[in-house]
Amino acid sequence: MPNTIIVGAQWGDEGKGKIVDFLTASADVVVRPQGGNNAGHTVIHGKNKYVLHLIPSGILWKGKTCVIGNGVVIDPASLVKEIEGLIAVDINVDPEKLRISDRAHLTLPVHRVLDQAREALRGAARIGTTGRGIGPTYADKIHRSGLRAGDLANPQKIRDHIAALCEDNAPLVAEAGLEPMDPDAMTSEVIQAAETLVPYLTDTVAYLHGAMETGVEMLFEGAQGTYLDIDHGTYPFVTSSNTTSGGACTGSGVPPQRIDRVVGVAKAYTTRVGEGPFPTEDPSLSEYLHGLGREFGATTGRARRCGWLDAVLLRYAGMVNGIDELAMTNIDGLDTHDEIRVCTHYELDGERLDLPPATADDLARVIPVYEVLPGWKTDTTGIRSFDDLPENVLSYLERLRELTSLRTTIVGIGPDREQTLRRD
Ligand code: GDP
Ligand code: IMO
Ligand code: MG
Repeated sequence: MPNTIIVGAQWGDEGKGKIVDFLTASADVVVRPQGGNNAGHTVIHGKNKYVLHLIPSGILWKGKTCVIGNGVVIDPASLVKEIEGLIAVDINVDPEKLRISDRAHLTLPVHRVLDQAREALRGAARIGTTGRGIGPTYADKIHRSGLRAGDLANPQKIRDHIAALCEDNAPLVAEAGLEPMDPDAMTSEVIQAAETLVPYLTDTVAYLHGAMETGVEMLFEGAQGTYLDIDHGTYPFVTSSNTTSGGACTGSGVPPQRIDRVVGVAKAYTTRVGEGPFPTEDPSLSEYLHGLGREFGATTGRARRCGWLDAVLLRYAGMVNGIDELAMTNIDGLDTHDEIRVCTHYELDGERLDLPPATADDLARVIPVYEVLPGWKTDTTGIRSFDDLPENVLSYLERLRELTSLRTTIVGIGPDREQTLRRD
């Protein structure tokens, strides 16, 4: 399999974990290039359910190497918990199988508190973050004042850094009405996690380039999705990293000419967690999917907002990421619907828009224009071959290709690894 980037084409939670797990069968190395433990990637094998936050979903396969790249932000205690959780269910995790960049930035306990404080102070203008400290960590990175994973070997540096962060930010934390921070407890948490993590740290750029010399094939597991990208998303209702395909290169040190293919992952409908504009949102679709027990966040458990497929967003995601192939998950979520809506374009102040407008304010004002397609009214969950998909599923995919130029080559008809169908 060629070196492939997997990116979310919507607002995250498209089913990237499941698609990465499926494609890992023919890869050697799986790399997480950006984001942090704001991500929650679900993989289901029969009765076993795994939710990965920082570790690439490829860890579930024997004989594959996983890399947490330099562009990721790592909460040390959270990563240790994740490693221990996998080991407890007999998934092997050791420094041969999991390699962590010594240049990845650290999300410290202070960053979690700052995330909560800033959200509280934003009031009605809050972003609806996961509260994991992601924004404050990337802010410190860009501000050139962060700690990196390599610093885990230096307890005194960690202690001094946390003490200074607590002191500098005490007024903000008080203003937000939160408890004062305890630098000693925070330092102990990080130093304790460091004992586990230090053996995993390495120069992952050198590792990946060495591996490429031997002809390995790599998968890059994007976190979040295109419209959460700090540059291309619905700013300011975004996360703080480049979630689009370019982020896979900067976040791993693998240059663009080594990338052969980009697979975009989209749901057959659209979901979003957190605040921000969502033109095709439909509360009755949310109610329907939540009633089935679906669409609750893998990280925070929050109910996801749901709406119809938005071809405007997918068209633009195709451009920004250079999507070669689309994987469309959750087809089965629409199995019982008589009619399926697809947003073909928007109208804004009487003008037609085929691409999203630049600002979140304008995106909140657009009127989505829909085309109504017939539903397939078939239980798709037991289908095991792409060619056996109902005619109306195939025409839905074909109409989407006409609207966006994106060809769907993988379809998800259930959460299990087996419920993933590939077009020949
Ligand atoms: P990710 O963050 O992109 O990896 O996606 P999440 O794991 O957060 O959310 C996707 C949800 O959809 C999870 O609960 C998956 O188990 C589930 N899922 C993925 N693909 C399918 C599918 O084709 N059908 C169904 N029913 N569920 C799916
Ligand atoms: P995966 O990888 C869905 C959203 C949050 C919030 C915004 C900013 O599972 O697809 P942050 O904590 O990153 O500062 O929050 O981004 N968000 C996600 N939504 N899936 C994710 O990851 C997300 N990671 C962040 O809900 O709106
Ligand atoms: Mg998720």
